[in-house]
Amino acid sequence: MSPTARELWLLAFYRNSELHGALLMGRLARAYSDPVLAANLTRHCATEARHAAMLTEALAALGSAIDLETGTIQSHYGEAGGIPTELADLLVLSEILEKRVLASYRAHLQRDDVSTVARRTLEAIVTEMEEEEDGNDPHAGWIDRALDGLPPQAVAAAKERWRRVDADVAAALMRLLDERFAEAGDR
Ligand SMILES: [Fe+2]
Repeated sequence: MSPTARELWLLAFYRNSELHGALLMGRLARAYSDPVLAANLTRHCATEARHAAMLTEALAALGSAIDLETGTIQSHYGEAGGIPTELADLLVLSEILEKRVLASYRAHLQRDDVSTVARRTLEAIVTEMEEEEDGNDPHAGWIDRALDGLPPQAVAAAKERWRRVDADVAAALMRLLDERFAEAGDR
């Protein structure tokens, strides 16, 4: 199946967001001398960068230019909840986004108009993310462990703040998408 305009927009949105996540993690990795934290941030940077590359390759395979104006999922959360600057805030938001992204890729795969290229790409990313969720993987839960070393009050406040934002932003994003592609009958 060939991609709809909605799907091409989404692939670019996913790609721009993964790349934004990689750059954020890379910047953080440069800022901390704790080698365990820095190693985890660097590894996370690499994972997000690989996802961005896979999605970019999908757009190339589909012969579609990258829409650079989609914004990112992080920009929507930042608009709703403020730009996170503290480490606790950044890590909690990253963890919440990780879950949200996995849920949206799974939802995308449930649709009946998924192109072959998008399916292959999203399935590969979802499989990888599910492995990272697995307790046997050394990469799993590094954010939780990093949060254990931060002031509990700051962590609790960040969780409270971003959980509140999460559901609202996700619903607003879906509405935006439906409005944008409803007119063309291309949902
Ligand atoms: Fe990712």
